[in-house]
Amino acid sequence: PDLSTIRNFCIIAHIDHGKSTLADRLLERTGTITEREMKEQTLDDMDLERERGITIKSHAVRMAHTAPDGQEYTLNLIDTPGHVDFTYEVSRALKACEGAILLVDAAQGIEAQTISNLWLALEQDLEIIPVINKIDLPVARPDEVAQALEDLIGEPAEDILQISAKTGEGVDEMLDLMIDRVPPPSGDPDAPLRALIFDSIYDSYRGSVVYARVFDGTLEAGDTMEFMSNKKQYDAEEMGILRMGRQKVDTFTAGDVGYIIGSIKDIQDARVGDTITTAHDPAEEPIPGFEEVKPMVFSGIYPTETDDFEELRGALEKLQLNDASLTYQAESSSALGYGFRVGFLGLLHMEIIQERLEREFDLDIITTVPNVEYEVEVEEKGEPKTVTVDKPEDMPHYGDIEAVHEPYVKADIITPSDYIGNVIELCEKRRGEYGSQRWLDGQTVKLEYELPLAEIVFDFYDNLKSASRGYASFDYELLEYRESDLVKLTILIDEKPAEPLSTIVHRDSAHEVGRKLAKKLKDVIPRQLYEVPVQASIGSRIVARETIKAQRKDVTAKCYGGDVSRKKKLLEEQKEGKKRMKQMGEIDVPQEAFLAILSVD
Ligand code: GTP
Repeated sequence: PDLSTIRNFCIIAHIDHGKSTLADRLLERTGTITEREMKEQTLDDMDLERERGITIKSHAVRMAHTAPDGQEYTLNLIDTPGHVDFTYEVSRALKACEGAILLVDAAQGIEAQTISNLWLALEQDLEIIPVINKIDLPVARPDEVAQALEDLIGEPAEDILQISAKTGEGVDEMLDLMIDRVPPPSGDPDAPLRALIFDSIYDSYRGSVVYARVFDGTLEAGDTMEFMSNKKQYDAEEMGILRMGRQKVDTFTAGDVGYIIGSIKDIQDARVGDTITTAHDPAEEPIPGFEEVKPMVFSGIYPTETDDFEELRGALEKLQLNDASLTYQAESSSALGYGFRVGFLGLLHMEIIQERLEREFDLDIITTVPNVEYEVEVEEKGEPKTVTVDKPEDMPHYGDIEAVHEPYVKADIITPSDYIGNVIELCEKRRGEYGSQRWLDGQTVKLEYELPLAEIVFDFYDNLKSASRGYASFDYELLEYRESDLVKLTILIDEKPAEPLSTIVHRDSAHEVGRKLAKKLKDVIPRQLYEVPVQASIGSRIVARETIKAQRKDVTAKCYGGDVSRKKKLLEEQKEGKKRMKQMGEIDVPQEAFLAILSVD
């Protein structure tokens, strides 16, 4: 095989800068699919992705392109996600490439993930090709953006390609330039096989389908593969490349990218980041794995019907297969029964998992208040000890706590200068510590702040967007744990602690949050036949109290003798509503109540 005519590349960009649109255009230009087959954003094949307009999972597609010199090239495009929660997906996709197109919106300019993705690509030693997109927009300012890019990466502004992924202008030139600049894969087709798994999906008929990039060696259909981390062996039953669907091939060699199927029924066996070799000629060293991604936000997920516990376990197992960052552990709560403590990268990640469990697995679940992980110093029998707390319920007893440490992050915020005041105000409100400020171009500023992770995981992004009319963007990385004056705010319903509703907050805002939370809970918890107090306490001190008034009469009582269909509808509505309720003691608590803290500001 001639490696010199292969190019493995990806497109990296800030969200909405046009990556999917460009990918569509490439598929069209290279004749991989015809215009007729082209649905909008073909690469986003999950319903959820389409609806949210974000690319969650990476995909790999093979295309052919003839360069101006008449030589035909094989191009493997690996699509990457752009949201701040999914950085880990970007870095694993990058590992499979030699080059990256850094796409920047001509109107928006450089944004936070433009920079963070650029760093990731530079860390992997990729050839970076900066490209300015959306030049057809009337508000485009491509020359200014080109200058900012020159300042950032040193590429002369006049050499930076300006394209429109929408109209197709400049797209062919971009392909030619990419072929010219991105190096072909290097690797030894005769060495023992080393193929890196960079993605996988679960197919209920065929088991795990892994997506891999071959670095060295050759794999033939029928060979026995071995996963290097766990020594598990499977036959390579079918392998192939992706065009608009799967297309079988007989051999993979160094430089190739494609899928492999091997009746891998135990989904734990084929993990993303692992190296595949062959049983008959095993490689000595695996390809250095990906940085392990750590969940940052934790919440409880409980089936509304206790019987669904095992089904929920199975679903989480399947989701974890192609989402290495998802962690879960069975837990039981006196209030909610059996469920799981699930770790996520951020709130968007949590929402997506929640929706997938409901849609793809048809499960009715309750998600409890998300929180970060704390390190708490306690004194136990006179001995100092540090415990890790990933749910408020596990917070040690108030009097035993010596100190609480919480994770801090360094956040880079990029904003048009008009909104600097608003952004600073938001960061200060979130206990941020100012770091530095730098102008990126005549109208854009990069601010650096150190903030508690707990203050940004929930709704910081939304607040930042409204503080800047949608223009500011941000990215963060974990710094360290720091001591903070944090307290557990316990919620009591009907004078009994409702642990799953409790939360950990800074002492300065504890009273206010307690008051607002109690009020919100009063509004969302349905009335009972008797009066139910809702209280918030710190230690043994009650800081807020509200009362859920008694229900006056049966919901259907007023319909007696009246319109039957109206009554039926009410009952149905009640049944619908019940789906998303969880019984705590005598009281049905709706999903909304578990997430009430998110709407307290
Ligand atoms: P994610 O997949 O969510 O990260 O976003 P993306 O970067 O893939 O962006 P996408 O391709 O979905 O484009 C975002 C928006 O910009 C869409 O509404 C596109 O139609 C629009 N868009 C993309 N390229 C162009 C362009 O060249 N010109 C114009 N006018 N609009 C464009």
